[in-house]
Amino acid sequence: MYSIVEKDLGTPPVAGASAVTLTIDGVEVTVPQGTSVMRAAAIAGTMIPKLCATDQLEPFGSCRLCLVQIEGMKGLPASCTTPVAPGMKVTTQNERLANVRRGVMELYISDHPLDCLTCPANGHCELQDMAGAVGLREVRYGYAGANHLDAKKDTSNPYFTFDPAKCIVCSRCVRACEEQQGTFALTIEGRGFESQVAASQGESFFDSECVSCGACVQACPTATLSENSLIAQGQAEHSVVTTCAYCGVGCSFRAEMRGEEIVRMVPNKDGHANHGHSCVKGRFAIGYATHPDRIVKPMIRAKISEPWREVTWEEAIAHAASELKRIQAKYGRDSIGGITSSRCTNEETYVVQKLVRAGFGNNNVDTCARVCHSPTGYGLKSTLGESAGTQNFDSVMKADVILVIGANPTDGHPVFASQMKRRLRQGAKLIVADPRRIDLVRMPHVAAEQHLALRPGTNVALLNSLAHVVVTEGLVDEEFVRSRCELPAFENWRRFVAEERNSPEAMESVTGVPAGAVRAAARLYANAGNAAIYYGLGVTEHSQGSTAVMAIANLAMATGNLGREGVGVNPLRGQNNVQGSCDMGSFPHEFPGYRHVGDDAVRASFERDWGVRLQNEPGLRIPNMFEAALDGEFKGLYVEGEDIAQSDPDTQHVTAALTAMECVIVQDLFLNETAKYAHVFLPGSTFLEKDGTFTNAERRVSPVRKVMEPKSGYADWQITQLLANAMGYPMHYAHPSEIMDEIARLTPTFAGMSFAKLDRLGSVQWPCNDAHPQGTPTMHVGEFVRGKGRFLVTEYVATSEKVNQKYPLLLTTGRILSQYNVGAQTRRTPNNRWHDEDRLEIHPQDAEERGIAEHDWVGVASRAGETVLRATVTDRVQPGVVYTTFHFPESGANVITTDNSDWATNCPEYKVTAVQVTHVNQPSEWQRRFREFRENQETLLRGAAVFVAK
Ligand code: SF4
Ligand code: SF4
Ligand code: SF4
Ligand code: FES
Repeated sequence: MYSIVEKDLGTPPVAGASAVTLTIDGVEVTVPQGTSVMRAAAIAGTMIPKLCATDQLEPFGSCRLCLVQIEGMKGLPASCTTPVAPGMKVTTQNERLANVRRGVMELYISDHPLDCLTCPANGHCELQDMAGAVGLREVRYGYAGANHLDAKKDTSNPYFTFDPAKCIVCSRCVRACEEQQGTFALTIEGRGFESQVAASQGESFFDSECVSCGACVQACPTATLSENSLIAQGQAEHSVVTTCAYCGVGCSFRAEMRGEEIVRMVPNKDGHANHGHSCVKGRFAIGYATHPDRIVKPMIRAKISEPWREVTWEEAIAHAASELKRIQAKYGRDSIGGITSSRCTNEETYVVQKLVRAGFGNNNVDTCARVCHSPTGYGLKSTLGESAGTQNFDSVMKADVILVIGANPTDGHPVFASQMKRRLRQGAKLIVADPRRIDLVRMPHVAAEQHLALRPGTNVALLNSLAHVVVTEGLVDEEFVRSRCELPAFENWRRFVAEERNSPEAMESVTGVPAGAVRAAARLYANAGNAAIYYGLGVTEHSQGSTAVMAIANLAMATGNLGREGVGVNPLRGQNNVQGSCDMGSFPHEFPGYRHVGDDAVRASFERDWGVRLQNEPGLRIPNMFEAALDGEFKGLYVEGEDIAQSDPDTQHVTAALTAMECVIVQDLFLNETAKYAHVFLPGSTFLEKDGTFTNAERRVSPVRKVMEPKSGYADWQITQLLANAMGYPMHYAHPSEIMDEIARLTPTFAGMSFAKLDRLGSVQWPCNDAHPQGTPTMHVGEFVRGKGRFLVTEYVATSEKVNQKYPLLLTTGRILSQYNVGAQTRRTPNNRWHDEDRLEIHPQDAEERGIAEHDWVGVASRAGETVLRATVTDRVQPGVVYTTFHFPESGANVITTDNSDWATNCPEYKVTAVQVTHVNQPSEWQRRFREFRENQETLLRGAAVFVAK
């Protein structure tokens, strides 16, 4: 069912072809060759009646409502499937056409419940509109014949309802599931009058392969597939364009509203990252914003063993500021710090790092990118000269070979995965390097040519052996390397990777990947016209995370796969604004725009603008803050929108550090795990309650627009501003656009960025400046940002985290589609219906050896700690490897991860932990203590009546 504001031109646009001029109802119109007559007519201002066509899907030609007359052509062709031709003369409306269309509509209406007044689509139903458009006044066939009016509704999906009585079998839903989503969960069963839509093998939507993306709901022209929120609330009356606050794809949405209530989220057809598509989280999982657990009043307490006390904003801010000042007076300037949030806007992140540098007077600021993509920043900056991905998402549509390494896009970046799958269905080849058989390895109409199922922790060995094949089999793009790269560094690297010890054969015993598969994959990648690499946390969260990123950049440079569309090195960033939080200067050594705090000229520009002296030495990283806290030197922390007690490795170490601090200030939506160790709670705002921008994995800066007032009274940037002023450092922004103006003033890569430009263009990929006023879809065109590309030698060094008799299995971690990160949001939505606990995946052989069966409780013990999960016995994981997700705090996934980290950036080695798994009957000691502590903290909270609704 269409959105309240978007016009549907009937068939998708056709790009880049030559122009064709034709006449429609006497009006001349010029459109690209290959455009349908229907779309050309819509462009000329004539909307031809249609039911089975929509501009989000390829034309199908089944409903016969869009017939037109074309001079010189026999019969009445369907305008949706007929392409334009030069000089064509089209008639869209005359008596004959009107009669045929009325006949078609009569057939549809004779088998349709006439309950328009109570139908959720009333007023926005395409069937209703078409009945009006064709002038239907009577139904000659009557309503008494065979019909489907008693068909039973399917209400199994928590977010939408399927009411087959209203179905006109236009198959838009089936095509949306295939073309847009690529899941192939729907079919039309039966023939003729008996045909009906069915999910998978006649299962309910919930039990089928459906991933609840909602594309079919959006495509349905009737109320057959309707959002439950729409059924309950009725039609929206206005909409606001904003950006999803879940993952790094950064989908654009229209929030359809009734007053301050969201009726539904509709993916924006004009969204440059998602082109009208979405996943279950962005479209449906927004209920957390009004969940009863949400805290909307500030609270303070002297000790974490004391009950929380609700206070006014004035008291909370004054108390927080005086505590931070007291600590600095007693323990020194460097005894406090702040953590910015990758969930908040760019503007909010910027003001937090400014508060730390200018207000606290030190550089003790860090962000959760420390624990995910900091190696990307380091590795890409050292080799290519810029810390971010090189392409836009659309670039994948020009890739001939796609290498996915250490990423699981269908779960982690689902909308981009749908685009990638579309390209794969068109014939691009796929290589997957992952210890686990992720969905992309084999799914409907997609199969990887090679699945390199490497052992966790051996990425660098695998990448070096891929490079070995490239240099020893003459697959280097010599011309590219000669003209674009530093030659001495290249020669050095070439000698290194050519050494026999880096060959696939020599590395086979390390990686576990057969040499033949590595050679085949390397040839496929190097011989492709365009080869693109997509990688994720499976590359970065290792002791050699930065080395692996460099090895990826080396491979792309050596094969000439940089600097144009269809190629590149593409980190799939996790959180909605993790790219932005890095860009905005969240790291202790860098100002916004990745400029070192030791650079005198850069620092001087910030000092002039901010009116303070700034420190020229890097501050503490998150792990150093914890160490310093345990040493008694770091006593106060301001944490905005990050749950370090759940997300950071070695939980017991983190909670010990938090306990050692005198003032922990948490700014968040919920009493998260970190807040249970806090002394001040400042209630934050959701993305729906603020203005600002997010930057996605493509460097795309997109607008976030307020659809409702902040439930706590303030957006997060305002809270930081209050704290800065109370600390004695003045901030007086009236609107986030002023913060963006300051960012643009001080950051060369953002110099051309402004809210006005974003409103005009929809979104902009940085760098955006005088040289690139409209932004930069592809980086390193013609020249690398650092001038010449730099090859770096990437020696494989095995992690110190080794299996032995006591810990014989390797644990690795990942995500699942329905939950998000620490789960604070998605756990408070019906998404729990798909995944309500973290499970341990274990290979049947390893399970049998241990007497473990499906669903059994198993103890997972590492050198750091022990937890208990339920087992899923599956050959998705290889023998010797176990796998879990980390969305539920009580799972304690980070109780068992160690404090090993990347040599360059301290990014934790989440992906490799040696463990033993045993059959158990009770929770771990840690889990028992965790539950006790949680219950205690919830009791301490109960006294303060601070919830959004309870
Ligand atoms: S919700 Fe998405 S995956 Fe499910 S049937 Fe509809 S289009 Fe397919
Ligand atoms: S469910 Fe909707 S989109 Fe699917 S065939 Fe029926 S009317 Fe068409
Ligand atoms: S793919 Fe990511 S950005 Fe898009 S709707 Fe899903 S969670 Fe949101
Ligand atoms: S809209 Fe053209 S045949 Fe249905």
